[in-house]
Amino acid sequence: PASYVDRFRASVRDRDAVPATPRRTQDRADDTPSIGDSFRNEPDTDPSLAANRAWALAAITAAPPPVKDPELTDPAAVDAVVERAAASRWGERPARERAAVLREAARALAATRGDLLTVMVGEAGKTVAEADPEISEAIDFAAYYADRAEELEDAPFTPDRVVVVTPPWNFPIAIPLGGCVAALAAGASVVIKPAPQVRACAEVGVAALHRGGIPADALQLVHTDEGEAGRRLVTHPAVDHVVLTGASQTAALFRSWRPDLRLVAETSGKNALVITPSADPDLAVADLVRSAFGHAGQKCSAASLAILVGSVRSERTAAGARFHRQLADAVRTLRVGHGSDPSTTMGPLIGPPDEKLERALTRLDEGERWLVAPRHLGGDLWSPGVKEPVAPGSWFHLTECFGPVLGLMHAADLDEAIALQNATGYGLTGGLHALDPDEIDRWMERVEVGNAYVNRHITGAIVQRQSFGGWKGSVVGPGAKPGGPNYVAQFGTWHDGPLDR
Ligand code: SER
Repeated sequence: PASYVDRFRASVRDRDAVPATPRRTQDRADDTPSIGDSFRNEPDTDPSLAANRAWALAAITAAPPPVKDPELTDPAAVDAVVERAAASRWGERPARERAAVLREAARALAATRGDLLTVMVGEAGKTVAEADPEISEAIDFAAYYADRAEELEDAPFTPDRVVVVTPPWNFPIAIPLGGCVAALAAGASVVIKPAPQVRACAEVGVAALHRGGIPADALQLVHTDEGEAGRRLVTHPAVDHVVLTGASQTAALFRSWRPDLRLVAETSGKNALVITPSADPDLAVADLVRSAFGHAGQKCSAASLAILVGSVRSERTAAGARFHRQLADAVRTLRVGHGSDPSTTMGPLIGPPDEKLERALTRLDEGERWLVAPRHLGGDLWSPGVKEPVAPGSWFHLTECFGPVLGLMHAADLDEAIALQNATGYGLTGGLHALDPDEIDRWMERVEVGNAYVNRHITGAIVQRQSFGGWKGSVVGPGAKPGGPNYVAQFGTWHDGPLDR
């Protein structure tokens, strides 16, 4: 088989052969959604246009809407919601018609970008730089899955009746809406239970999908507690499938409630970026800081470890000293604040740190020191921290902490670095910064992650280009990846034998 480098070169050539999609620089104040009849990625807001900066400033300083819907605590109320979803006629519509509705829903989301920005910043503290691409991703999911719905036309496929979507708080638009539009594309009805921290985000997003024409009975939003009502939602017999993005423990809890549950789950990660002496240090530092501290590190995809190879690991070599100095400078110059302040480059935590994050932020294990010590700045604001050296097999090497702490590990050579990277038990994202083609080949061959990125930040997968999902301890279920070709087709039953995933 062709080596990674050959394939990479080939794909560059292929891409050059395809006429470039014009990426419009959109003036958001006069927005015209761009969703066409076949998929292309929705452009993010271009901050070089003064009109867009004014538009964003107005959006992030506006008051977010309050949560509208009440919390259901009575399991009988949950039954009524699920039964209404099960009775929806959505799944009987021809696939092509569902695709057309999903494209309208994508357009409705695009037309709601300002309100989505307001609620994401107001409720989750996100910065524009984090929130705006997430809105593009949600639009992409709707438009991309519309194409996948069309592929189901005349297929020997019966959609699930009801799919329950239980998203996390850290991507309060893309993950919840992505789960909904995938199941809807297959012809299933959806009940979504938003994370309690970001209920208003989900309400604004779901309202946009309804405006785009998704029927009210086919997509229902319920707020429930995690007690009897939440349990009823997952265990109701009309629920064929649950989409979970969250902790591995939550997946285990759902399974204990209902052992036969069909669960599509993207769970925890402990992701590392490997940096070798052949890397471009400027790019490596910039990508590492973005991967580790985007949304204050609160991403399943975030870089929690950097594995420094050979001369990069030691401050006694010129290359290592330069790398450490640049990294420390870049981390110290992040501006910590709320997303409603446009100068913020790292936003707040979603709430007080849990036990693991508290430990990561406030304690060092034996032999570690702070390259940059984190500080509590009051409320939910913490400045970022970098600790070094994290020992192989230590607590920080193996524990997902979900916050603004990066650990540096040392490896004598690339093989040792790959072994450390593969030893976490998880396998979600991983990165390599190296310019040596042999190193790139060796790493691509051996790294055990769902999303492997070379000379790029390791968060922010892009629909169709980088379908997103894990390996090993980071995934439960068949493992078809969101934003990829097989995701929609798992929400139903195939009558011609098992689906080749
Ligand atoms: N899709 C997100 C990313 O790639 C994580 O959910 O960062």
